[in-house]
Amino acid sequence: TLHAQVKAPIMGWSSWNNFRVNIDEKMLREQADAMVSSGLYAAGYRFVNIDDGYFGGRDKDGKLLVNTAKFPSGMKALADYIHSKKLKAGIYTDAGNNTCGSYYDKDPNGTGSGIYGHIDQDCNLFFKEWGFDFLKVDWCGGERMKLDEQTAYTPIIKAVKAIDTNIVFNICRWQFPGEWAIKQADSWRVSGDISAKFSSILHIIDLDADLYKYASPGHYNDMDMLQVGRGMSYDEDKTHFSMWCMLNSPLLAGNDLRSMSRQTIDILTNKELIALNQDKAFKQATRVLKDANIEIWVKQLAGKNAKAIAIMNRGDNDATYDFSADKAGLSNNTELRDLWLHKKLGKAGALRRFDIPKHGIIVLKTV
Ligand code: GLA
Repeated sequence: TLHAQVKAPIMGWSSWNNFRVNIDEKMLREQADAMVSSGLYAAGYRFVNIDDGYFGGRDKDGKLLVNTAKFPSGMKALADYIHSKKLKAGIYTDAGNNTCGSYYDKDPNGTGSGIYGHIDQDCNLFFKEWGFDFLKVDWCGGERMKLDEQTAYTPIIKAVKAIDTNIVFNICRWQFPGEWAIKQADSWRVSGDISAKFSSILHIIDLDADLYKYASPGHYNDMDMLQVGRGMSYDEDKTHFSMWCMLNSPLLAGNDLRSMSRQTIDILTNKELIALNQDKAFKQATRVLKDANIEIWVKQLAGKNAKAIAIMNRGDNDATYDFSADKAGLSNNTELRDLWLHKKLGKAGALRRFDIPKHGIIVLKTV
């Protein structure tokens, strides 16, 4: 029998964190170009996701219109361009009749840009006419209309998957949506919006910690789009990226790909970290130990006794930490590799003292 291939967490880029509703086709094309030229494509990034801010009301037949000042060539041309780079294209809507940005990016006719009441019409437009590969469905409109989540989202997911099961569906309800979602959606947000502050990173990690039981191969907790390269320190960015990899979140860069520092590129393209996120066991890491400001997280990997181990320093001071094999459930003979230093460390049994900077992380893998 043929089985559909299990989808790993998606990798790509989304417009929201850096650009908000100030998006246009020229900038989006340049992001697609930069995804390839920067090396992100080679590292596995594929999706170019258009978030809120492209709308232009609806016509008298209810057909969704696009802001023609921002998108003079239209969405099909943009999706075609993205596809011409061997990339995938993502689009955005809301389960209710207005999107989150509608509050300050009013559509000219006031007819509502959200998918409510237009599910088949908009799905045909997004996927058959325009050719998108991903849909994020937000909840500002749903909340304002006091919709029930399951009742609102389920027919949208069904309509999308009826067109093509390969289309990736993301629920953006700013908290774990409920068990009804975990076999239908490809991913679901577990938090409100991320910001480029370490407190926001820790907050989302903590919200996601107990949700590992809801994730399964092909269905992931979404910790929100990345803030790497948007103002946090190098160590904070490394910790952020490491934990999104360990916890199997989608990896959607949120910085401007046209202007990245070498450090930002090195973080986003760390292939050993990405391999954890895309690992074929598709298991979310769990927190196995809390020792004051130090936490140890373990992720099961495909292969016998294969594991990744993260040692995170939440504290506001640099720390030295005495790690021993038993703290991560490892046997003394296990060989370890450091995935940021890209080198073998030797056997886990020897007591290891790690220097972990403030807000920093050590990520190890069994070899
Ligand atoms: C919400 C979502 C964000 C983004 C904005 C767009 O806040 O959580 O990710 O999509 O809406 O307006």
